[in-house]
Amino acid sequence: MCIFLFSTEKFIKKTSEELKHYDGKAIIAVSGGVDSSVACILVHKIFGDRLKAVFVDTGFLRKGEITEVSLKFKKLGIPLKTVEARDVFLKNLKGVADPEKKRKIIGKTFIEIFDSEAKAFGADFLVQGTIAPDWIESGSGIRDTIKSHHNVGGLPKNMKLKLIEPLRDLYKDEVRLLAEEYGLRKDLYWSQPFPGPGLAIRVLGELTEEKINICRQANAVVCDEIFSSFEKKEIPSLPWQYFAVVLDSKSVGIQGDIRAYGYTIAVRAVEATDGLTATYARLPQDLLEKISIRITNELKGVNRVVYDVTHKPPGSIEWE
Ligand code: XMP
Repeated sequence: MCIFLFSTEKFIKKTSEELKHYDGKAIIAVSGGVDSSVACILVHKIFGDRLKAVFVDTGFLRKGEITEVSLKFKKLGIPLKTVEARDVFLKNLKGVADPEKKRKIIGKTFIEIFDSEAKAFGADFLVQGTIAPDWIESGSGIRDTIKSHHNVGGLPKNMKLKLIEPLRDLYKDEVRLLAEEYGLRKDLYWSQPFPGPGLAIRVLGELTEEKINICRQANAVVCDEIFSSFEKKEIPSLPWQYFAVVLDSKSVGIQGDIRAYGYTIAVRAVEATDGLTATYARLPQDLLEKISIRITNELKGVNRVVYDVTHKPPGSIEWE
C-alpha cells in the first residue's frame, strides 16, 4: 500500500458511478469516526434522502462524543437520528467477559437496532465504513481470525439488508485523504481511530456502568494531557492512537492513610500508519507522570496507572 498511488478524485468518481447502480433505500450506522463519516458522505451524495444515517448511543462512547457527532453532521447537512440504546447493550452483555463474545454480541445488538430502524425506513441496504484492515484481521476465510471487528464479525448470516462497503479496499491513511477532500474538520481531539465496539473493549472482562464511566473519564484525561502536551510543543507530534484501558483485576494501594483496593488503568499510545503494525509511543516521563497523577486524583476507585510498552505484534493495539 502506498498513499502516493491513491487518487481521491479517481476513487470518488469510480465509487460514485458504482453507487448509482443501487436501487432502493439504505441505512448507515455512523460512529462519528472518519471511516463511517466518509462512507456516509460518499453514499449521501448519490442517495440523498434515500439514505438514513443513524447514530447509536451504545453507552460505550467517549466523553462529549454525542454532541460532537451531532454537530458534525449538522454542519455536513446530513440528517442524523440518534438512537439511545445504552440499556439494551448493557443488558445483552451482562455476565459476558470473553472478548470475542463481547464483540459478537455488540455487533449483533447493533444489527438488531439497525434492522428495526431499517424496517421503519424501508431500507434495502446497510452501508458500512469497513476498511481493509477490518476484514483482513477478521480472517475472511483465508486467514486466522485475530479478532472479529464488530462491523465484520457480528453480521448474522440471514441478514436481509444487502451490504454496501464503499471503503472496503482502502487503508486508514487513504480514508483520511478522502476526509480532507470532503473538508471534514481536522480536529485533533477526534481524529484518532476509535473501534466500533467503543469503550466496551477497553474495559476488560465483564462490563459494568462503573467501569465504563472510569474508562470514559480516564480516556478523557489521557487525551487532554497528550493534546495539551502537543500544543505546548512538549511532544513533536500526536501519537497515532492513545487511550485508557480499565483492567479486570484490582490492586492494593493507599488513598489518604487508608489501604485501598482499586482499579488499575493501563495507558496505551502507539505510532502506526495503518494499524496493522504499531510501535508503542515513547511518551516523555513527565507527561506519563501527569497522566498518572490526574487519573489517580480525579477518579475514585483507581489507585494504579501503568503504561503499555508493547509493540504490535506481539500485542494488538486494543487490549480485547
Ligand atoms: P488492533 O487492536 O486490532 O487494532 O491492533 C487495530 C486498529 O483497529 C481498531 N479496531 C477496530 N476498529 N472495529 C473498528 O472499526 C473494531 O471492532 C475494531 N477493533 C479494533 C483499533 O482501535 C486500531 O486502530
